Amino acid sequence: MHPLTVAFLSLLFVATTASAAEEVLADFDGADYGGWTATGTAFGTGPAQGTLPEQAPVTGFRGHGLVNSYLGGDKATGTLTSPEFELKRRYLNFLIGGGAIEGKTCVNILVDGAVVLSATGREEESLTTLTFDLGEYSGKRARIQIVDDATGGWGHINADHFVLSDSAAMPPYVKQSIDAETLYEETYRPQFHFSAQKGWHNDPNGLVFFNGEYHLFFQHNPKGTEWGNMTWGHAVSPNMLEWNQLESALLPDATGTMFSGSVVVDVKNTGGFQTGKEPALVALYTAAGGTSPESKGRPFTQCLAFSNDRGRTWKKFDGNPVLNNIGDGDRDPKVFWHAATTHWVMPLYVGVKDPTRLGKDGKPVTRQVCQFYTSSDLKKWTLTSTFAEELFECPGFVELPVDGGAKPSKWVLWGASGEYWIGSFDGRTFTAETPKQKGDYGSNFYAAQAYDDLPDHRVVLVSWMQGGRYPKMPFNQQMGFPVELSLQTAGDGIRLMKWPVAEVRQLFTSALHEELIEHFPAGQRKLSGTNSELIDLEFEFIPGTAKTVAWEIRGNRFEWQAASGELTAFGRHIPLRPGPRTLGHRSEFRKPWGPDFEPWDNSIRIRFLVDRTSIEVFANGGAAMASFCFVPRALPTTTLIVDGGDLARSRFTLRDLRSAWKY
Ligand code: FRU
Repeated sequence: MHPLTVAFLSLLFVATTASAAEEVLADFDGADYGGWTATGTAFGTGPAQGTLPEQAPVTGFRGHGLVNSYLGGDKATGTLTSPEFELKRRYLNFLIGGGAIEGKTCVNILVDGAVVLSATGREEESLTTLTFDLGEYSGKRARIQIVDDATGGWGHINADHFVLSDSAAMPPYVKQSIDAETLYEETYRPQFHFSAQKGWHNDPNGLVFFNGEYHLFFQHNPKGTEWGNMTWGHAVSPNMLEWNQLESALLPDATGTMFSGSVVVDVKNTGGFQTGKEPALVALYTAAGGTSPESKGRPFTQCLAFSNDRGRTWKKFDGNPVLNNIGDGDRDPKVFWHAATTHWVMPLYVGVKDPTRLGKDGKPVTRQVCQFYTSSDLKKWTLTSTFAEELFECPGFVELPVDGGAKPSKWVLWGASGEYWIGSFDGRTFTAETPKQKGDYGSNFYAAQAYDDLPDHRVVLVSWMQGGRYPKMPFNQQMGFPVELSLQTAGDGIRLMKWPVAEVRQLFTSALHEELIEHFPAGQRKLSGTNSELIDLEFEFIPGTAKTVAWEIRGNRFEWQAASGELTAFGRHIPLRPGPRTLGHRSEFRKPWGPDFEPWDNSIRIRFLVDRTSIEVFANGGAAMASFCFVPRALPTTTLIVDGGDLARSRFTLRDLRSAWKY
């Protein structure tokens, strides 16, 4: 089979601009390497004067000389190392071309003898600009080392014009400003995941759709980049991708700071809060008494606020609290309308004292549970049941069809960790019919809440990607990508499937790369180059004799092992075995594969959604999901490595995505 369609965005290169605040370390325009030391034969005794014999034309270098390790062809090897110099300026800008083999055809920065940053070419002879941010090594002594340790195809490296500078010539570099011009362009700013303009944020709150707008409220600290001063931030979107952050919705008061909760549209005006023609939005939230000097000594209670202007301004109910303190840190009410019994239901996290179990101190142990309350008017709440099993924080509770409606629908209850139970609900009591199931297999998934009242009946989950790091940024944390939930009978029972919402297509650019490879021999191959930072990659394969299949995405390794039937990444293990073609969701990419792009039977399917600082993995159509955050240190390339044998069959579709902030 031949490659089907190959279309790439043309590469965009940024030229280095000279300024007073820079120091040229090497320009390679002399007859020799000056104080640089060459080993091996690939670099010769001095700079090349451009293209070498039998080399494709080399372009893009400055002046008339450059470093070009094609001397003696690809098979020659060697290193070229600079004298030691002091890192007096933050950025090192330089030009690079040639091979793309990490660690083998590369430019390294050595600090205290160790490689701290490394970059390769892109399998092109032309040189393009790169910047290393060396801010964290400021004042230290460093060396530049140019390496050619490869003898096969593209086994050489080109480099030129090393300049220490106060300004970066191109990313990655740390941009921190949040002025209107550069807002959302900062170095570690997620490009298609929600993050607050500035300040810390955690849980998504009040997910509701009303009058064409998706609302996302969120646990926000508008005053700092660490948790605290909990305030309800607010953003709206036409499509769950492009967010417009509005004024804060709920500010801390004497009852406490504003902890997590939910928003409903009171269509029948059951609470009597509606003043105009449109129904009121009603928020049920936790007033976290005792978490601020103002609320010292007060307990946690559940309170209500309402808005009659599509969430732009909010009034707190003067009959607050609507639910008095119950136990230990009760919080996170998730209210919804239960049509069958025509009342409101509120799953609530509560720490209840268990008199039957005494702790070491002789006092009853606290059990972390979910209680169910009901109400006819959102103001008076009655306890109807307590779910027996332990569940911690942020309960989520939705009804979903099973197998696309072929079987009666079921209810899913989860806690903040994402672990869930499937069962039935009569409007008062939830009865689990499965043991607890694992929710997310990654390291950064927490406190997810769902849009459970969408006009198109989809149920869409948004998590907080807890624990991501964004050094020196004006914001802190990001949300997970919105995923559609469904229930499917799979092997050992009904399971919750997760899949990126179809709106992701609105982010596709014209850069598309698709290939069908009937027999993929052991080896490695680049799936994307350095210009693809934001990608949606779907990969399907029938393992054949391969023992491991790995994807190196921006320096992060995801390795599938045939022996264990697991995908390992960031020290986590995600189950991934060949499955039936009917498992989970179908591919997003039916075109231009045409109707043939049905999953294969007994294949493994994996989808990676890669943003600047996160990777979400969907295994076998969403049968398992794993969320990961990372701090980008390597160039944005994606490489496939097959080891120990060959893949019987494989195919992939890789799309470049655009930033959701620029529209
Ligand atoms: C979960 C959580 C919630 C609480 C909120 C406070 O991350 O601890 O239980 O309402 O965060 O910010």
